[in-house]
Amino acid sequence: MKQLQDKVAVITGGNSGIGLAAAKLFAAEGAKVAITGRRRDVVDDAVREIGAAAIGIRGDVADPAHHHEVAEIVRDRFGGADIYMANAGVNTIRPSQHVSEAEYDAQFAVNARGTFFGVQAIAPVLRDGGSVILVGSLASDKVLDGHAVYAGTKAAIGAFARSWALEFKDRGIRVNMLSPGPTETAILEKLGVAPEDRGSFVDMMSGAIPLGRLGQPGELARAALFLASDASSFVTGINLRVDGGMALL
Ligand SMILES: NC(=O)c1ccc[n+]([C@@H]2O[C@H](COP(=O)([O-])OP(=O)(O)OC[C@H]3O[C@@H](n4cnc5c(N)ncnc54)[C@H](OP(=O)(O)O)[C@@H]3O)[C@@H](O)[C@H]2O)c1
Repeated sequence: MKQLQDKVAVITGGNSGIGLAAAKLFAAEGAKVAITGRRRDVVDDAVREIGAAAIGIRGDVADPAHHHEVAEIVRDRFGGADIYMANAGVNTIRPSQHVSEAEYDAQFAVNARGTFFGVQAIAPVLRDGGSVILVGSLASDKVLDGHAVYAGTKAAIGAFARSWALEFKDRGIRVNMLSPGPTETAILEKLGVAPEDRGSFVDMMSGAIPLGRLGQPGELARAALFLASDASSFVTGINLRVDGGMALL
């Protein structure tokens, strides 16, 4: 029996990296998957990769109207959802002294506000007994250079997860945070790591991780599957770090 047979999963930022790996794994485990993302063509490519069970919805998680559209489409198409993975996120590394108001607002708009209003909008169509997974970051536990604002957004997500674990308990909906450490996804390029510097950057980061390497998106997807499935039926309100032990150093 597949672990997510006949379940419906919604994954924000499901066209890339950890979100795409989770979408593919959830679909392989029997779920019908709705992914969201900003770029129509990239979302369409991802839907083809995930397979017949998937649909794609284009939009910006910083816009609450987008979340209402997602909830409406999911209700019309599938009758509701069982799993909501708030995964879309951005990171701008900058010493606090040099962070502009626009950069600050942009990170909070996507990571914190996007997560908050995404869950608020999907809650009415989330079936009782469901699972909400909020993608945080190791950065909210461990001080990393230039990450103050990003860490703040992810700390907010941790607070949301703990609050919602109690707010949703009477519906049997579990809410957990999944916190990746450095993981090999497109986020590295988006941080400004040039393709020619990727190898040395990865080597440098690997030296700071007890397991001696970066995580792979599939490893995060398997942790997300644990939180999404009945394997974690007695788990709510936790922060599951998947970071190769980096928080220990
Ligand atoms: N990779 C890491 O080292 C790492 C470590 C800790 C935490 N995380 C967290 O893991 C999550 C996934 O990141 P990833 O590494 O898989 O990076 P990624 O490959 O860049 O994926 C991020 C996804 O979020 C989407 N997104 C960003 N802003 C959005 C917006 N305003 N509206 C809708 N979608 C938006 C992106 O869409 P586009 O493709 O259009 O940009 C993309 O699909 C993020 O929350 C990130 O903070 C990652």
